[in-house]
Amino acid sequence: MNPQDIAHRPGESAIFIILGLPDYAKAQAPVKDFLGKAPALVRSLANRFPDLGISLNLGFGAQAWTGLFPNRPKPKELKPFEEIKGQKHVAVSTPGDLFFHLRASRLDVIVELASFISADLAEVSVPIDETHGFRYLDSRAIIGFVDGTENPEAEAALKAAAIGEEDPEFIGGSYAMTQKYLHDLTAWNQLPVEEQEKVIGRRKYDDRELTDEAKPDNAHNVVTNISSEDGEELKIVRANIAFANPSKGEYGTYFIGYAGTFSTTKRMLENMFVGNPIGNTDRLLEYSRAISGTLFFVPSKDLLAELAED
Ligand code: HEM
Repeated sequence: MNPQDIAHRPGESAIFIILGLPDYAKAQAPVKDFLGKAPALVRSLANRFPDLGISLNLGFGAQAWTGLFPNRPKPKELKPFEEIKGQKHVAVSTPGDLFFHLRASRLDVIVELASFISADLAEVSVPIDETHGFRYLDSRAIIGFVDGTENPEAEAALKAAAIGEEDPEFIGGSYAMTQKYLHDLTAWNQLPVEEQEKVIGRRKYDDRELTDEAKPDNAHNVVTNISSEDGEELKIVRANIAFANPSKGEYGTYFIGYAGTFSTTKRMLENMFVGNPIGNTDRLLEYSRAISGTLFFVPSKDLLAELAED
């Protein structure tokens, strides 16, 4: 299936870039040209810095997919992310045509890669967002809890993150949901640690899971824990990363979830923002506000190569 790096760990450093394409027809040739060049750009950096785990994932928003590749079918679940509005919280929808997820253990090398991307696409794109994130302490979210523990691993990760036989033309692709969150860290830090633990559903210091009896119904790991009709737990692969500008009081989490079926991620979001039952919203949202929300399709490497040849 030859997927991009959809089933991997967050990495030490990450850059997320979202670009807009004001004119799809004009962008077709430069984008395809870039798709052809991208593997060599990453290969060259990886040869020069072999130990840094450099990787680049590339994705397309729904409108860009149709605009850039009008003669190709569309992945089954690819459409612009629709805002999810609960009584108290909103998962906003924001625009985005091209998406780049860069990872490495050093920030400088992915800044280099980001500068190549920007230079090659500058004439046909406009920047929408660029977020630079870092591994925070021992792989914690900026709110101080270890993040990523319950992620599936190895084969299970690929099964969760990659499109399978249900959409044969897009096998190995993935739906990447991205959301940028800002946290009210002042309020969060005023909450006693035992209360914070009830918000997440895990212990803060040693990351141990609370017992089912100790977890409130609105704990983050309760509302995002979902199953299929026949009782199988449904997973996505999260590669969240922390970002911060302490002098501006800005502390955030860049959420990214790779899934083979977007409906899985969407159900998690509905549980968080609307609640199931309605009103039982994720208590983490009392301290976190989503300021962006965009869905991208991340094709397999084989399909990327085909697109470059289109
Ligand atoms: C405000 C941004 C977020 C932060 C800071 C955050 C943080 C965390 C932390 C600390 C954990 C516990 C450790 C772990 O298993 O990884 C966790 C678990 C989880 N999160 Fe989040 N998360 C955020 C947003 C989201 C979103 C938007 C989704 C889904 C759409 C999500 C899905 C999950 C899932 C599925 C788990 C595992 C639950 C289980 O134990 O089965 N998270 N998250």
